[in-house]
Amino acid sequence: MLRSFFTNFLALFILFQISVPKPWASAGLTIANNCSYPVWPGIQSSPQYPVVARGGFFLPPNSEQWVGFSDLWSGRIWGRLGCNFDAAGRGKCITGDCGSSLYCNKLSGVPPATIVSLSIQDDQQYYNVSFVNGYNVPITIKSFTGPDDSKCGIVGCTKDLNTVCPAALQVRSADNESVVACKSPCENAKTCGPNKYSRLFKKYCPKAYTYTFDKTPSSVVPCANVGYVITFCPKNK
Ligand SMILES: *[C@@H]1O[C@H](CO)[C@@H](O)[C@H](O)[C@H]1NC(C)=O
Ligand SMILES: *[C@@H]1O[C@H](CO)[C@@H](O)[C@H](O)[C@H]1NC(C)=O
Ligand SMILES: *[C@@H]1O[C@H](CO)[C@@H](O)[C@H](O)[C@H]1NC(C)=O
Repeated sequence: MLRSFFTNFLALFILFQISVPKPWASAGLTIANNCSYPVWPGIQSSPQYPVVARGGFFLPPNSEQWVGFSDLWSGRIWGRLGCNFDAAGRGKCITGDCGSSLYCNKLSGVPPATIVSLSIQDDQQYYNVSFVNGYNVPITIKSFTGPDDSKCGIVGCTKDLNTVCPAALQVRSADNESVVACKSPCENAKTCGPNKYSRLFKKYCPKAYTYTFDKTPSSVVPCANVGYVITFCPKNK
């Protein structure tokens, strides 16, 4: 009994090793939830690329999931919070909702939500974290091998901006009045520029886009890597 358990375990282990793509060998991302609460990541592929991971899934606290790309890819990743889905994946989220489904497919999330943009192309990779559509959860992204602060390094923000969100921009939970998101100060993205709100966000989050024409030097990351780590609620350094 015990021996067969171990034999099965070993067989499973070997299978797992063979079938799971190696993050460092193929294009894709590890999405990690370091929050103390669950996150339902949403993933919107750019129109020319296929949907990955059905566009969304459930990620419990202290867990991670690998999302592989079969080829080049670009798109947006964000976090949905306070979701309630039934067994068929129908339901709603308090922030970042993409309609009425666990699976966002080609749909985007409702602002305010922190958004990661990633583009893996033949010649160059690009990634950034933006508050242009508001903010709901701290996110960072880095390449697997890029050291912090290098060109391939970490961008985004570890600070929970909900805790410093100006009253005029706060979105509060209907249940308990806690601040669940922070609206973008930009009424109109085209005319949105530096102002007291974006300066406040910038103070806490120097490596994120806080308004449309923000010139943070992290938009074009000439990084040869194709594997990335996105972390919800990264630790403060
Ligand atoms: C962020 O990266 C995406 C590509 O993933 C790019 O299209 C977008 O222009 C970048 N944002 C800024 C503000 O540079
Ligand atoms: C307040 O409600 C939100 C969801 O509406 C929940 O995520 C959060 O944990 C609650 N906070 C407290 C302090 O109960
Ligand atoms: C996220 O949590 C994992 C597991 O505890 C840890 O190894 C990793 O350093 C954390 N990442 C960040 C960016 O805080």
